[in-house]
Amino acid sequence: MSTAAWRFTVNGDPVEVVAPGMRRLLDVLREDLALTGTKEGCGEGECGACSVLLDGAVVDSCLVPVCQVDGSAVETVEGLAPPGGLPGDTARLDALQSAFLEVGGAQCGICTPGMLMAARAYIDAGGGPDEDAIRESIAGNLCRCTGYTKIIEAIAIAASSADR
Ligand code: FES
Ligand code: FES
Repeated sequence: MSTAAWRFTVNGDPVEVVAPGMRRLLDVLREDLALTGTKEGCGEGECGACSVLLDGAVVDSCLVPVCQVDGSAVETVEGLAPPGGLPGDTARLDALQSAFLEVGGAQCGICTPGMLMAARAYIDAGGGPDEDAIRESIAGNLCRCTGYTKIIEAIAIAASSADR
């Protein structure tokens, strides 16, 4: 597909990207828009490190060509906490980020942005603190460090919190 201007929103802000239609959304986010919170793991749709929300649904941004997001709303990990805070200003974090910090849900951190976005979609869809449901919601997101226990605990805390 030839190069064209693609228009969509990222974390609520309108963007226009001139790129070949088959350029990966992952590369558009990281390289064209300098939003490096979204990570690349496998590059093949297997690990979920690159998970973002596309019109509220979790997608692997390494598998999505930019032509498919034209006119859509993309949410990345950068959109979870409002920008402009000072380092260490944890009061402004999303409930999920606070819970991950509280219980140690992140170790190396490579999977964390994708986990947070999958969990955000789960909670936004009305998901609660049920362990089996949480496991299912992050089934597409692999973590080599934590054994998942702390991640599931963090999501359950966020799902139960008042500011979920
Ligand atoms: S980098 Fe996209 S699923 Fe692994
Ligand atoms: S914290 Fe390292 S892969 Fe999940």
